[in-house]
Amino acid sequence: MARQAPRSAANPKLEDILSLAEFEALSERSMSAMARAYLSGGAADEITLRANCEDWQCMRLNPRVLVDVTNIDLKTELLGQTFDLPILLAPAAFHQLWHPEGERATVEGANCGGAAMVLSSYATQAVEDIVRVAKHPLWFQLYTQADRGVTQEMVERAQAAGCRALCVTVDTPVLGLRHRETRVRFQVPPGLKLPNLPVRPANHVPQRGSAFTGAMHPSLNWKYMEWLRSIATVPILLKGVLNPEDALCAAEAGIDGVIVSNHGARNLDTLPSTAAALPRIVEKVRGKPLLLLVDGGIRRGTDVIKALAMGASAVLIGRPYLYGLAIAGAAGVARVIEILRNEFMMAMTLTGRTSIRQIDRSVLWDR
Ligand code: LAC
Repeated sequence: MARQAPRSAANPKLEDILSLAEFEALSERSMSAMARAYLSGGAADEITLRANCEDWQCMRLNPRVLVDVTNIDLKTELLGQTFDLPILLAPAAFHQLWHPEGERATVEGANCGGAAMVLSSYATQAVEDIVRVAKHPLWFQLYTQADRGVTQEMVERAQAAGCRALCVTVDTPVLGLRHRETRVRFQVPPGLKLPNLPVRPANHVPQRGSAFTGAMHPSLNWKYMEWLRSIATVPILLKGVLNPEDALCAAEAGIDGVIVSNHGARNLDTLPSTAAALPRIVEKVRGKPLLLLVDGGIRRGTDVIKALAMGASAVLIGRPYLYGLAIAGAAGVARVIEILRNEFMMAMTLTGRTSIRQIDRSVLWDR
């Protein structure tokens, strides 16, 4: 069991937190203004940030009754790997910005809640130390580097550590316009280590408003992906696909999966929500052996069932578990997952679906 956090005004009793949305406000006093701006902010006017949540909310469910729902099975298989539930923790940078125990606390919370985790290239703790603790498949998010040798080193290290898939971020050739980060002059605290990144990104450049100037890889292209495919021994997913044409290219390039994502609405504002993009991608790659996952705005169990109904095999959550981490470390992460898992199970029960396999488009009212 994850440790119970001590209680204080800034650290509420976890069982009194009933929904994911509550974690954001409750974490207010658990993090610096800089950490908060980095975590909560979206690109520009934050139109896509809001749409990511709203577009799941406005879909309606179509329940079946008189189904024996005594037993609900949440287990699922992705890329031949077994998961206790179709909810993963999305990769996010710098967990020690939110809690001194960092990714180690996150993975303990994930273990406890039954979720798998995708570890960021910008993690503040070594991949070997996190894999060692993980009880569910651990995947590695890869920020490729222009120097192929450096990328190869990162890939081989993650694989040797035991990471079972690579999620290559493809939607961030440059970072987007992030006013909240710019206003607080966000920078990676010099004391934070990035032990999985052979080259530390250049720090804050105020006129560009980005803590990562020079760290991104704007020349990344399909040719590079072909090379990456040739050196990787674990499955590869592209993280950050919205255009159905790109999903088709991924399938044709022998990529194993895509994560339909707009990077938590942090890069380009007025992109479609992932709820809007997902059905078009599903349609385009129908019949292809391409795993589809989705992130962005998932805050309720009903959002999870809707995403699966539209054709995603699993979802990822980001900000909510980081608010949980800030509030109470591993126990906070575990509580976030517990709430979402219970809500998801309730949504399955009340729509008359007893296994993940049974969740198809017929769960949606307007299909
Ligand atoms: C971000 C990068 C680091 O969104 O993924 O801040």
